[in-house]
Amino acid sequence: MKKRLGILGAGKLAKIIVDAYKQGFLSDYELVAVLGRNREHVEGLVNGTEAAACMEMDVFLATKPDIVAEAASVAAVKDHVSTILQNGSNFVALSIGAFADEAFLESVRKTASTYGTKIYLSSGAVGGFDVLRTLALMAQAQEKLGKDEGGTEETGSVMNAKQVFCTHKGPDSLRNTPLFTEELVDGNIQKEGDSTEVFAGNAKEAIGLLPTKVNVAVAASLAGIGVEQTQVSINSTYGMSGDDHCITLEAAGCKTVIDTFSPTADIAAWSVVALLRNLASPIETF
Ligand SMILES: NC(=O)c1ccc[n+]([C@@H]2O[C@H](COP(=O)([O-])OP(=O)(O)OC[C@H]3O[C@@H](n4cnc5c(N)ncnc54)[C@H](O)[C@@H]3O)[C@@H](O)[C@H]2O)c1
Repeated sequence: MKKRLGILGAGKLAKIIVDAYKQGFLSDYELVAVLGRNREHVEGLVNGTEAAACMEMDVFLATKPDIVAEAASVAAVKDHVSTILQNGSNFVALSIGAFADEAFLESVRKTASTYGTKIYLSSGAVGGFDVLRTLALMAQAQEKLGKDEGGTEETGSVMNAKQVFCTHKGPDSLRNTPLFTEELVDGNIQKEGDSTEVFAGNAKEAIGLLPTKVNVAVAASLAGIGVEQTQVSINSTYGMSGDDHCITLEAAGCKTVIDTFSPTADIAAWSVVALLRNLASPIETF
C-alpha cells in the first residue's frame, strides 16, 4: 500500500519535491496534501495530482498523511511539528535550524516518542550523516570506557572530538544578513576567488545569526557531536556562485572530510526525495 505524503510549504524546494512526485520518483507514495500560504502557489503545485490544496493546518492534517515533508521555514517547524507528530504523521525536516534549540528538540523528541512517530533530518545540501553519527558514537564509547565526563547520548556531545563546518559562498547570498558588508562586493578591494571569513563560532550561534542560511550546519552538528561543540566558519568568496560546505570530524582516532559543492539549493529538495525513497525501499542505505 502506498504511503500518504503531505508537503508543508509551497515554495521553490516544495515544487522540486512535487515535480519529482509527478515524474514518478516517489511511486511508493500518494501525495495527499500540500500546505502553503499563497493559494495560487499551492493550487499550481497540486495541479495534475489528487492532492488537496490546503491553507490551514487542520485541513491538511485531516488528509491523514503518514509522513509530512517540510520545505517551509524554521518558524513553520517550530509552530507545527508537535501537532503533526501528535496527528500520527512522521516528519521530514529541511528547516533543521529549528532543532538548534535544545529545549525545543527535547520536547519534540518526547512528543514523537509518546505518539510513536519519527522526525527525519534530511541531509539537505550536505551529507555523510552516517559517518558523522558513527564517529561521534565511537568517541562517546571511548569516553565512557575512559570514564571521562561530558558526553551525553542524547545530544551526541563529546569532549574528545573535533568537528568543523566550513562554508564558502558568494557575497551576494549574504545580503540582508548581519554578515554582509559592501566591502565584500567591492571589486576595487576584492579579486576573483578572495575569501573573507565573516563568521566564526559554534553552530548554535550561527543559526541564531542566520536563521535561514545554516540549516546544514545544525543538521551536521546533530548528526555529529552537537551544536555547541561544532565550530562553524562562514566565508564570503568573491566571484563565487553556489555553496561549498566542508565538514571535518576527527574522533576516536578516525577522520572524515565531507565536502559538497552545489550551484543551487535544488540538492536540498532532492535529498528529501532520496530520503523518502530510502524509507520506502526494502533495502535502506545508512
Ligand atoms: N537543509 C538544507 O540543506 C536546506 C537548504 C536550502 C533551504 N533550506 C530551508 O528549506 C526551507 C524552504 O526553502 P525554499 O527555498 O523552498 O523557501 P521558499 O521561500 O521558496 O518557500 C517557503 C514556502 O513555505 C511556505 N511557508 C512558510 N512558512 C509557512 C507556514 N508557517 N505555514 C505554511 N506555509 C509556510 C511559504 O509560503 C512558501 O511557500 C527554508 O526554511 C530554507 O531555509 C534547507
